[in-house]
Amino acid sequence: MKPIYDILQRELGAAKVLRDEARLETYARDESGLGPYPPEAAVLADSVEEIQLVLRLADEHDVVVVPRGLGTGMTGGALPIHGGIVLSTERMQKIKEISREDLVAVVEPGVITGVLQDAVEAEGLFYPPDPASLAMCSLGGNVAENAGGPRAFKYGVTREYLIGMECVLMGGTRLRPGRRTSKGVTGYDVVGLFCGSEGTFGVTSEITFKLLPKPQGVALLLAVFADPVRAGEAVSAIIRQGYRPRALEFMDRVSIEHVRPKATYPIPEGAGAVVICELDGDADVLDGAVERCAQACDALGAVEVIIAADEAQRRKLWETRRITSPSLRHAHRYKVSEDICVPRSAIAEMLRRVDTIGAQTDLLMATFGHAGDGNLHVNVLTDEDHHDARVAARIQDALGMLFKDTLALRGTLSGEHGIGIAKKKYMPWEQAPELIDLQKKLKRTLDPKNLLNPGKIFPE
Ligand code: MLT
Ligand code: ZN
Repeated sequence: MKPIYDILQRELGAAKVLRDEARLETYARDESGLGPYPPEAAVLADSVEEIQLVLRLADEHDVVVVPRGLGTGMTGGALPIHGGIVLSTERMQKIKEISREDLVAVVEPGVITGVLQDAVEAEGLFYPPDPASLAMCSLGGNVAENAGGPRAFKYGVTREYLIGMECVLMGGTRLRPGRRTSKGVTGYDVVGLFCGSEGTFGVTSEITFKLLPKPQGVALLLAVFADPVRAGEAVSAIIRQGYRPRALEFMDRVSIEHVRPKATYPIPEGAGAVVICELDGDADVLDGAVERCAQACDALGAVEVIIAADEAQRRKLWETRRITSPSLRHAHRYKVSEDICVPRSAIAEMLRRVDTIGAQTDLLMATFGHAGDGNLHVNVLTDEDHHDARVAARIQDALGMLFKDTLALRGTLSGEHGIGIAKKKYMPWEQAPELIDLQKKLKRTLDPKNLLNPGKIFPE
């Protein structure tokens, strides 16, 4: 074992430098289901100075460092596939500032997304990005993955709100790119470059987010269709009304059947698809807007259209969608959740192709997600042993077909979960060698020895 681990324990104390197998278990996994990949040590940093110390020593000792938020990533971005140190910012949970005047929040990277949302809403403000894991994911992780969520349809993803940051490069250099003003075009957009870099460029120690005023009201409708094609048409019809819903979500029949036993909303029998449309804005125009969207669904032959009567019912109806991913996971021995994104006009064709892929590989497929953005969570499900070579080959075939079809429809491999290790072998399918090369050159400029989160995003 290299001496760096003893040095770190001496400098930071044994409570912050974990080395025993049992405690390292947590840091060997994330929500991707890949691994386990146990690190040699996990350092629980409390400050930017401690992050600098770890990255300086690691550089001196040629040791790999993998940054980690709260481990909710879906593609293995925080997994230490080459061992070394996991550098966790989970203890850095301070909200340093919420300014109503400047409409900004300054936070440490370990703050939980939902905690910031509640804190700013108590001040009459709004931080829109809402990844499904918002009750347990950290803002540092959201920045690393450029996280999205249902509200991205109206409000965009994390990058839209990230205006400034403090980060540390491998070797220990501290940078403060960005700004805290609402506008600013000084120099390159370094903050934009770091956002979504999956922890390969630097470790975030502080984040400045832009905030919005909290919308006055929220209205939600849930529409059930027998025919998924009609549901797709309803998505387009709602958009044609001229309103911009904050979320426009879709669930297919297989997803519905998995959610039905747990949902508090009794989904009608024969439901082939569910569309959820959530609007926000001035209370006086909301009622008319949601009513017109409901009429558009009725005109397309919806089996049932419900407009939430109050906040409690709104939450109940949302729950139908929120529990989709966990319901699929609990019902099957193995689940791979993809997050392809296609142009909205290609959704119906993509759904048809997913059916074909399921039939050809004899695997159960469930599709749900952010229809407004064309961002579909296609889940490959099986109760067979996925370690069995023949089953594994069928799953790989299904994923290969899915990505091929996505790209053929002018889509992209990842709408919100990132590439990590799960999809890196497909990167050359989407991006030209020159583009991949340019990104690798950037990485080498920031981390010449390739010690910070190596082996992610690009094939090695
Ligand atoms: C969601 O939108 O529910 C998640 O991004 C998908 C997932 O957890 O698989
Ligand atoms: Zn999602």
